[in-house]
Order: sequence, then C-alpha cells, then structure tokens
Amino acid sequence: MKTCRTIADCRAAVAEFRRAGESVGLVPTMGFLHEGHMALVAAAKSAADRVVVTIFVNPTQFGEAADLDAYPRDEARDLAMLKAAGVDLVLIPSVEEVYPEGDETIVETTRMANMLHGLVRPGHFRGVTTVVARLFNFVQPDIACFGEKDYQQLQVIKRMTRDLAFPIEIRGVPTVREPDGLAMSSRNVRLSAEDRKAGLVLSSALDAAEQAARQGTTIEALHSLISDTIHAEPRATLRGLDIVGAEDLSDLSGPLTTPAAIMLSAEFGGILLIDQRVVTP
Ligand code: PAF
Repeated sequence: MKTCRTIADCRAAVAEFRRAGESVGLVPTMGFLHEGHMALVAAAKSAADRVVVTIFVNPTQFGEAADLDAYPRDEARDLAMLKAAGVDLVLIPSVEEVYPEGDETIVETTRMANMLHGLVRPGHFRGVTTVVARLFNFVQPDIACFGEKDYQQLQVIKRMTRDLAFPIEIRGVPTVREPDGLAMSSRNVRLSAEDRKAGLVLSSALDAAEQAARQGTTIEALHSLISDTIHAEPRATLRGLDIVGAEDLSDLSGPLTTPAAIMLSAEFGGILLIDQRVVTP
C-alpha cells in the first residue's frame, strides 16, 4: 500500500493504475476508521481493480473550530486497517494542499444543502461538496463509495456529481449494523447498557414503517407511527424525523406512492443516534 501526501504523487500513482488498464474506486474519509468505513472499502474493492482511500479532516464542513480540533485522529491505526483491508493507495493531503493559499472556489448544491440537517448545520454540506469535488478531481476515480447512513450527504453528492457531469459512479453502501440491528456508530460505546438497549427503538420504528409502507399508507400515518414508537420508549428523546423524496429530498404528503427516505434521530442519555431507511410502497 502506497501513502501519498500531495496531489502530484497521488496522480502519478493513479496514472500507473490507468496505464495497466485498471479501474479505480475511491473512498473519501476523515479518518478514525471504523467498520462502517471498512464496508465502504469492501464495496469499492468489489467494484474496481484498485482502491484509493483519502484521509482528510475537512475544516470547511465544521461549524465550530472546537469541533474540528476535537475531531479524533489516529493515522497509524487507520493505515494499519487500510493495509490489512488490501487498499492500494492512501492520500493524506495537508489543509494547504486541498485549500491552496488564495483559494476562493466553493461548490454547493443550493437547495439540497440548505434543508433538513443543512438547516441545523449551516454551511456543512457546502463544505462537503467543496472538498469532495476537489478529491474527485485529485484522484479521478471511476466510482466513489459513501455510506447510506449519512443519507442527505449521499444525495447531495449524487446531485453535485450529476450537475457537474463528473464521470464517476456514486455508490451508496448500506448502513453496517450490530447483530441486534443498532446502526454502527463510534458513539455507541458511550451509551449506558440501558440506553444501548433503548437505542434499538430506532431500528424497530423503521422496521414498522417499512412494513406499513408495503401495506399501503400515507406520509402522515408514517410520521405518527414512528413518533409514537419513539415516544413509547421512555429513555428516548426524538430529535428529528423527516420523510422526504428518496432522490431529491422533496417534501412529501398524502398517500405514499414513490420511494421515501425516512431520516430519524433521537437522544439517549445525551447521546444523539441517527438512522435512516428508504421505504417503498
Ligand atoms: O462522510 C465523511 O466522512 C465526510 O463528510 C467526507 C465525505 C469524507 C467529506 O469530508
């Protein structure tokens, strides 16, 4: 596994893959890898001849400087995990390499970035699309993998890729779950045993919604079903429930006739957990 820190070195390594006629899959990350990232790597490996992973804690997607400073980092551990997973190339650029001095170009999906989670984290998705567009341009992969767990991010990146005609296939990779159904997250270890158990209400509310959707229902009934299920769990505080068009995140109401994405978040003992599901009628 080769590690590069500059765009030039990365491009030279990717050019070698290209000369050998090999396809390239990209997994952009901010490091501090867990099983969710490794599922993205596995998806990229099965879709392309070579896998490139980027590790870059992107300052432009953080609201508060304190959050950026507190972001966990462990490069040595990340590199060991990527090597064991058979990754071919890792790009770890500096902030100056990604955002050169005098930098003034941003990329933004103007509608999709400024709704839902974008309303509570202003500028977040603009930072994501700006960095992902740059990473796409550095590596020029054939496919790129992103987790479905960050559902809005995945749709924003798909829209940017389409609008800017990047010749890259965006693959959404299903959320990795604990055996009992809890979506994997680095936050799960901070839950008390009782809250960890109560957290399962997220996946059971989504299971119930999926079943109701298959039998025929309305958006309003799905809202009530999910919020009633969450409210019935005394340890859970519902923080967010959005049911929107699966591809364009548009508002939905009335009978469910097209695929809908349910984005759900709730707090358990002060720890925010998120989950999502696409349901089809
Ligand atoms: O999902 C993430 O880890 C980040 O938002 C991404 C896509 C690597 C961009 O910095």
